[in-house]
Amino acid sequence: MRYLVTSALPYANGRLHVGHVAGAYLPADIYVRYLKMKTEDVIYICGTDEHGTPISISADKENTTPASIVQRYHKSIKAAFDKIGIEFDNFSGTAREGHYRISQEFFTNLYDKGHIVPKDTTQLYCEHDQRFLPDRYVEGICPRCKQEGARGDQCDACGATYDATTLIEPKCKICGTTPVIRSTRHWFLKLDDFTGKLTEWISSKTYWKENVRNFMLNLLEQGLVERSITRDLSWGVPVPLPEAEGKVLYVWFDAPIGYISSTIEWAEKIGQPDRWKDYWLDPNTQMIHFIGKDNIVFHSIIWPAMLMGQDKKYCLPHDIPANEFLNLEGQKVSSSKDWAVWVDEFAETFPAEYLRYYLAVNAPETKDMDFSFRDFQARINNELNNVLGNLINRVLSFAAKNFASRVEACPLSEESKALVEEVMRTAHECEESYSQFGVKASCKKIMDLARSGNRYFDERKPWTAFKTDPLHAQETLFTCLCLISKISVLFSPVLPKTMAELRALLGVESKVTWNEVHNVIDQAFVINEVKPIFRKILDEEIDQELERLQTKAAPAKAKNYKALKELISYDEFSRMDIRIARILSAQKVPKTDKLLHLVIDLGFEERELVAGIAEHYAPEAIVGKKVVVLANLEPRKIRGIVSQGMILAAEDENGLSILLPEKDSGPGSTVQ
Ligand code: 2FM
Ligand code: ZN
Repeated sequence: MRYLVTSALPYANGRLHVGHVAGAYLPADIYVRYLKMKTEDVIYICGTDEHGTPISISADKENTTPASIVQRYHKSIKAAFDKIGIEFDNFSGTAREGHYRISQEFFTNLYDKGHIVPKDTTQLYCEHDQRFLPDRYVEGICPRCKQEGARGDQCDACGATYDATTLIEPKCKICGTTPVIRSTRHWFLKLDDFTGKLTEWISSKTYWKENVRNFMLNLLEQGLVERSITRDLSWGVPVPLPEAEGKVLYVWFDAPIGYISSTIEWAEKIGQPDRWKDYWLDPNTQMIHFIGKDNIVFHSIIWPAMLMGQDKKYCLPHDIPANEFLNLEGQKVSSSKDWAVWVDEFAETFPAEYLRYYLAVNAPETKDMDFSFRDFQARINNELNNVLGNLINRVLSFAAKNFASRVEACPLSEESKALVEEVMRTAHECEESYSQFGVKASCKKIMDLARSGNRYFDERKPWTAFKTDPLHAQETLFTCLCLISKISVLFSPVLPKTMAELRALLGVESKVTWNEVHNVIDQAFVINEVKPIFRKILDEEIDQELERLQTKAAPAKAKNYKALKELISYDEFSRMDIRIARILSAQKVPKTDKLLHLVIDLGFEERELVAGIAEHYAPEAIVGKKVVVLANLEPRKIRGIVSQGMILAAEDENGLSILLPEKDSGPGSTVQ
């Protein structure tokens, strides 16, 4: 069997955090390591996703080029993967020549077959910057949930996707100007052309997760709409049509093609330029795309449709393991708010494989999970140290002390055979779970095996048996060493480095293959060295991490504060006449959402004013309240009402709160 394993290409627009790793990378790396140990023909392919508007916006902000942003993050992401042992056969990037060529070939093939058609569309255009504002280049109020800060293509608050021209109060992300609507030509992929083939294909995927399969079949039944696959941008793969000057392919069109271009790059690097075809052009290749749940539709409908529309007979995805999300200390991870655990930083503080272990036992396989530092500490201390580490330490120390580090093979009693059988059972169960991408289950089984080893050691008390029946103690030690050496195989996909260290201590062959778990061991163990392979995590270390997380995130919150205005003199302040006033009546200003028409009693006179508080206060709720008013503000006509003064209020992300005197100061009291 030939396997082609990929992980979603991470955007080259930010550092790698643990949420990324838990979803699409660690489970894939573990799967690939397992297959490689089984000497299967497998390659693991990835690279950075280097197009899309967030990257060009970052470049604009930093006054640099998208290429330099991409270069920086490609390097940083790759370094972070290296640190935690995510080992790709090739890690490429989509802003490379070879990728452009094959992406254009994909477009041309689909176009020539009539699956791509042009359409005149309307888009937002910034007259100040003289450019169209695709996707994230524009922000406004979400047409569905009315949340501010919604992007041109999607609202983060309610998840709605929409046409940017329907955004309320749109603003150019570069200069803040209100854009205008202009017409421009774009090219659309006629997904519906593939409905029949896709339905047949997905129906045959009976081994896919039931909910994913049904969701996709449902989408197909509802009918697929044409998707725009081009953008008015300069950063991206140029659309290969003479009439499409200045337009590039939409990032989601070219990104999955990166799986192919990265494989081609790999084949070139190993000096066998045609080798990629063995994987991509063989219908029997098991192609497996590891992704996060937000990428399911792209990988199970759009990408297969793109593959189906090619001249070359590409293989289609065999499976698409999609993981859920990993939250952090009970909150959604947010790179922009720095509410994240960055892989490179983490690996500076703790052994990198502790992260692999924690993310494996805490993998968001079937539901969203939480990364919590205290839980991380508990898992490492109570499981890796107290269960597995303890077993290894006591067995190795005993062998070194009482058997001069050499434990001969010996016949096994029923009790010992029962433990060996448990090892075999666990090996089969791990085979099953690893091959179904279940890393959590494998870890649990292996830990249970280590627990059984500890129990067996306790029950057989080699420390007393040694004095009266040395052979009994030898059998205990030999059986435990067999068990530990099998664990070094079973755990290798998850903890490759630590298990290699363990094998060095045990004096067993450094190269590890899966078959080894089925072999009967009939040779002596010669212990090389006794030393702990795990260390405990201290409370102080966790306190420090939590504090760091909170303080890093705090300035992000502060970003919401408006900049302090420049200093004013006492004299300037004293020119303001601020008074307490009682609200006598309030009613909404007709045809507005925000305005209330108020009559107030200032003690010495009654006045009318208009206040923008209707979204926060119902008229009847504020009548009778004593409020703080700037009384000598120049009158202003608002919606036909002359507003004489301003009610003072505090505003933050939770809304607006009018200021009230703490004691019962009467109307007309001065405020200083
Ligand atoms: O969601 C993401 O991070 C995308 N960059 C994933 C792309 S996956 C594939 F299509 F390349
Ligand atoms: Zn602009």
